[in-house]
Amino acid sequence: MEKTSVLFVCLGNICRSPTAEGIFHRLLKERNLSEYFEVDSCGTSAYHAGNPPDSRSQKEAQKRGTDLSFIRSRQFLLEDYYRFQHIFPMDERNLADIMDDYPDNSEAKVELLLQYNSSIKEKSVPDPYWGGSRGFAHVYEIIEESLVNFLDQWQKEEQLP
Ligand code: 4NP
Repeated sequence: MEKTSVLFVCLGNICRSPTAEGIFHRLLKERNLSEYFEVDSCGTSAYHAGNPPDSRSQKEAQKRGTDLSFIRSRQFLLEDYYRFQHIFPMDERNLADIMDDYPDNSEAKVELLLQYNSSIKEKSVPDPYWGGSRGFAHVYEIIEESLVNFLDQWQKEEQLP
């Protein structure tokens, strides 16, 4: 079975998108689905290229059993339009940046992650970088809810257990 490839994108790739990558890896492991996926994250900027996730994101994730320590920030690349079937921008600015250069021959499906979260009305995962730790908890929770819904839907469509 061909792997499903998923890329999470934010601005710095040190808070939101690594949180999504780490949570998604954990969900896949819990459901024994890791072999069916390729997962990565990146930022539209190179501000933090090579850096590990923000310590506040790591702390929030660790509390909930999610490891982010293996992730290093990288910038979005042109080849990502072809490498990934699903691209999930965290906010509307990330979405606009990705769609600005979207090539005609890409087959990547680009969707705001929160399209998979009907319990909140916002479209964007807020940027927690300049705020307090409550922001990080909120970001973690809404990302996790969205990923659970995306994966539930994928399992239904693939008719896997
Ligand atoms: P992220 O958060 O996009 O969720 O990784 C940010 C990280 C760094 C900056 C902005 C947002 N920054 O301006 O350096």
